Amino acid sequence: MPVRRRRFMQTGLGAASWLALPGALVARAAAGATPASSTADRYPPLVPGYAHLLHGGDWNPDQWLHEPQVIADDLRLMREAGCNAFSVGIFAWSQLEPQEGRYTFEWLDGVMDGLAKNGLRAFLATPSGAKPRWMSERYPEVRRIDGTGRRLPHGDRHNHCFTSPVYREKTRAIDSRLAERYGKHPALAGWHISNEFNGSCYCELCLGAFRGWLRARHGTLERLNQAYWTAFWSQAFQDWDQIDPRESPLDGLMLDWDRFVTHQTVDFMKNEAAPLKAATPHLLVTTNMMGTFTGLDSRRFTDVCDRMAWDSYPHLHGTESWKQVPGLSFVHDLYRSMKGGLPFILMESTPSQTNWFHTPSLKRPGQHRQEMLLAIGHGADSAMYFQWRKGQGGFEKFHGAVIDHEGSTNSRVFKDVASLGAELGKLDAVVGTTVRPEVALVHDWEIRWALHRAQGPRQGRGDWFNWFDKEYLTTCVDHYRPFWKRGVPVDVIESTQPFDRYRLVVAPMVFLLQPGVADRMRAFVTGGGTLVLTYLSGVQDQAGLVLRGGWPGGGLRELTGVWVEEIDSLYPNPAQRIVMKAGNALGLAGDHPVREYCELVHAEKATVLASYANDFYAGRPCLTVNTVGSGRVYYLAARPAEEAFHDAFAQALVRDLGIARNLDAALPEGVTVQKREGGGRTFLFVHNLKAVEQALDLPRGRFADVLAGKDVPGRLALPAYGTFVLERL
Ligand code: GAL
Repeated sequence: MPVRRRRFMQTGLGAASWLALPGALVARAAAGATPASSTADRYPPLVPGYAHLLHGGDWNPDQWLHEPQVIADDLRLMREAGCNAFSVGIFAWSQLEPQEGRYTFEWLDGVMDGLAKNGLRAFLATPSGAKPRWMSERYPEVRRIDGTGRRLPHGDRHNHCFTSPVYREKTRAIDSRLAERYGKHPALAGWHISNEFNGSCYCELCLGAFRGWLRARHGTLERLNQAYWTAFWSQAFQDWDQIDPRESPLDGLMLDWDRFVTHQTVDFMKNEAAPLKAATPHLLVTTNMMGTFTGLDSRRFTDVCDRMAWDSYPHLHGTESWKQVPGLSFVHDLYRSMKGGLPFILMESTPSQTNWFHTPSLKRPGQHRQEMLLAIGHGADSAMYFQWRKGQGGFEKFHGAVIDHEGSTNSRVFKDVASLGAELGKLDAVVGTTVRPEVALVHDWEIRWALHRAQGPRQGRGDWFNWFDKEYLTTCVDHYRPFWKRGVPVDVIESTQPFDRYRLVVAPMVFLLQPGVADRMRAFVTGGGTLVLTYLSGVQDQAGLVLRGGWPGGGLRELTGVWVEEIDSLYPNPAQRIVMKAGNALGLAGDHPVREYCELVHAEKATVLASYANDFYAGRPCLTVNTVGSGRVYYLAARPAEEAFHDAFAQALVRDLGIARNLDAALPEGVTVQKREGGGRTFLFVHNLKAVEQALDLPRGRFADVLAGKDVPGRLALPAYGTFVLERL
């Protein structure tokens, strides 16, 4: 499972309230827009007419066809666990089409009927994540070619070619049959297309498609040569057929390959979605993405996914586990923001252990419930697991499951899941509500790729995670965390998404500047918005060509009022510090250590708020602010080494702009709060992420504990890993 290592981490209203949604609102919701503010401002539930949080996960009855009693038991136990939705048939192609053209759907008929009889819903999967053996043998072109030119053997999963016409035809054929046969089935809730798309193929079909894609993008070879700067090392292309993404030190070409891989994967998914949407236009199609996985730009899937869905496997272990949670929250916010606030699907998570972790520690009492309610607090309308039942064999026989090999309900995990199931049943009014931040954090896959592909301005840290993007992701989370700590909600958007719905936009390391972004930033600031930009911004264009005329380039020099003349790259443990200027407009004091990047900045128009303490550039600007129209642009020229700077800076901005927090209370360390609103109601998710009890003083007002069904006192006692869902009355 090499892909693993690339992952970041990683109520009371009834169905009637959906009917109150005006038609235009439903259409906008379907398109991913934020609903207008009114009492009917809730998005539709994931499953039409089924206004409940979904609880369940991956179920593999295809592994138990030899023991029908197990399948019957599962259906009974699912109800006992308070579950209501399952993804079925994800890797079942061999059981659905054991020989080419011979379909054996009878077992799936029984499974779907069993689900329906028990009031359970199915995200029916298309089986393209793993192909049957006959196909690999008869049509070798469906097997991927790796970077060394080797055609991969059949075994394993996620190793097919996304371009192969045969693979596309075969997936289309089986998907069409699934749609015809189950389109009207009462258990059908939606479509789970394939599984965790990833990887790329270098076969002639893929290379041909890449060259075609390049022609469409660049038009002529002259333009492509110019964009790739191919005069460097005599790399010029004389023919489109000479282009091979494996052989070149041209970072522009690599960047295009990254884009093409996403494009081709989305295109493959569209081919799968077409027959499903044709048969069931009212049901959602989605695919489960891998969080911030580097290999695909998940945002490009928003076109084809009705709802975004992701699989969450955070490493939350030990007494300091709460420190990992901002990174997890960041990804939840990312998936909610991809479709403008539309609730997303938590499609997989482990109910207990994750077998591919080096050290699969057990979830401590309360941790599982908390992890699920955290996702819901950020906008998930589901809590789904991998996996329902442990298989007896195969790669994942030791992966956590709701039903253990022992088989009974007499396990801690089952009891935890069942008790959560009962609680989720009380949260119907949360379904379709959303989060409405005034702050946005900009995160672009294109920036990560560009930083990864560029040889400089310094190299990555060398470990797998940070090597990829020179700590871009870490930096995004560093800028996100201080808001999270204060319970300030944040959308995580792409630089191409609208800024105008926010009051504060924080855009760290906009290394690659996409077309039009600088103009939209200017319009945002001129209109009164506040923008934070940092070191390594406006460095190169979309092709990978460095922007001339001084960094931050592409229009950002005028906007920020600074010119970056040089970038000092620091060895570990530097003595350099940021010193706040006395009487600065943000009211910040003291000094803070920095690491890795120190830009030597000229404040051309901007006002200096802080400067460097040491070395030959002591006294030169390090934090500036520029007033443009009725807004402001801050520029941070160095990478702070500690949270304290980020905390102080974000706190000053929040105070200065009067940005609302989810709860106006002093949050103890390790306590976080999310807020979901809609249908005239406001829900607060209060979590004590620490392994020790803490207390929270609530502000004035009346709050109800939704799960306990009673009012709460002014001082809330938070047990270790305790989560409360409060309603502000
Ligand atoms: C997911 C995958 C599942 C299962 C799970 C184990 O990434 O989609 O099929 O392998 O990991 O954690």
